[in-house]
Amino acid sequence: MNGPEQETPPALRHGRAPGAWPLLGHLPYLATRPLSFLDSLPGHGDVVRVRMGPRTAHVVSHPALVRRVLTDRRSFDRSGVLYEKVRALLGNGLATCPNAEHRDQRRTLQPAFHHSLMDRYAAVMTAETQALTARWRPGAVVDVTEEAFRLTTAVAVRTLFSAGITARAAEELREALEVLLRGVYTRVVAPAVDRVPSPARRRYRRALARWRTGVAAIVAAYRAAGMHHGDALSLLLAVRDEHGRALSDTELGDQVATLVLAGAETTSSVLAWALRLLADHPEAAGRLHRELDAVLAGEPVTAADLPRLPYTADVVREALRLYPPAWAITRTTIRETELAGLPLAPGSIVICCLYLLHRRRELFPDAARFDPDRWAAGEAPRDAWLPFGLGATKCVGDVFGTVEAGLALAAIASRWHLTPVSPRPPRPVPRIVLSPGPQPMRLAERVP
Ligand code: HEM
Repeated sequence: MNGPEQETPPALRHGRAPGAWPLLGHLPYLATRPLSFLDSLPGHGDVVRVRMGPRTAHVVSHPALVRRVLTDRRSFDRSGVLYEKVRALLGNGLATCPNAEHRDQRRTLQPAFHHSLMDRYAAVMTAETQALTARWRPGAVVDVTEEAFRLTTAVAVRTLFSAGITARAAEELREALEVLLRGVYTRVVAPAVDRVPSPARRRYRRALARWRTGVAAIVAAYRAAGMHHGDALSLLLAVRDEHGRALSDTELGDQVATLVLAGAETTSSVLAWALRLLADHPEAAGRLHRELDAVLAGEPVTAADLPRLPYTADVVREALRLYPPAWAITRTTIRETELAGLPLAPGSIVICCLYLLHRRRELFPDAARFDPDRWAAGEAPRDAWLPFGLGATKCVGDVFGTVEAGLALAAIASRWHLTPVSPRPPRPVPRIVLSPGPQPMRLAERVP
């Protein structure tokens, strides 16, 4: 749906980030101290021009402007270099297609996220969290970021293809997916890695081939069974274009790969951040433990418990505020427009920086502080909390991701104490997803 023609509210300012280097612009800051560079931007205006090599990006963090950019689809399209690169690597899917194809793709996939399916998905989430933590041993050190990613990729494989897949096949696909997704991030940032033969390139290519043959085998089994399993793959198999043509195996593989690309590292990051924030804030961890002990009484958590775990939900909400995994949503202008009085020619890059939006001091008191209580106290403006975006392309997996993060957090925190091996604060890594980077933590069992 096209958004209404909107004007930027008055009194918003535009500016330019100072200190651009010749040729490189602000890239050196983004490479060496990205978050403190970002933090400095609102001081220069509500729309700030940042030079990334030869390109200029317009960074937006004011709530009215973010809203405008995400909903005015006649002016701002989901296209541009980043999307083209991801599409070239992983194919066209709901999370990567331009506006023109979006409506049909969204209509196709939306039913896979219907709330009636959520209990089934939640059962997979709890089973996979149990399988993950069953490998943990007291006293051992695990990288929480990697473990969370292992969990979300396993859940993705198990929910996308819900029928007739063996544990071994699922694990092989999960492994391929992990290499693939990591590889996509590297290739978006440094496309040159694919030009030079290396073990990493071989691994990536092998994973891509394994993913494609694995998905093709599952697709063949689904087609042979001729049944609708009510999962994303069954929905995609039923799609026909105006000529009655079904999606090819490659197109199906690309659709599911981009779905996982959008869902796996986002959800794993928020879980890893939440675990780290709790380790650094013992009082909040104590509150969470008390809630979990009182509600679960030593039993494993299920989706039915979630409504009775409001503090757990607020921890996830607060982690999503401080470290929104989709920290920068990019758009390209497709016609002349303006933002805060700054004229923008077609083809201009605009970045909605959710990381900055969520830390605006006039919106969130003591904005840099991890304070899950701000949500229950009603002092946080919910309409300025946009970790899942807005408008027609708002995250289709918002409930899925929230339920997964909440269940995994409850399951882990009720049974385990996690202590960071290093007391140094994590150094967030803003790639496509704002990841906490490696988080080695020592495990201790917790008796509820
Ligand atoms: C906490 C976890 C998650 C966060 C923070 C998140 C965030 C986002 C954001 C901000 C967008 C909007 C992007 C845009 O407008 O360009 C988006 C879109 C999307 N997300 Fe998520 N996401 C999460 C989990 C998931 C999960 C679990 C799935 C799938 C299982 C998923 C699938 C998608 C897809 C397919 C889109 C594109 C939707 C469309 O264009 O219609 N996400 N996500």
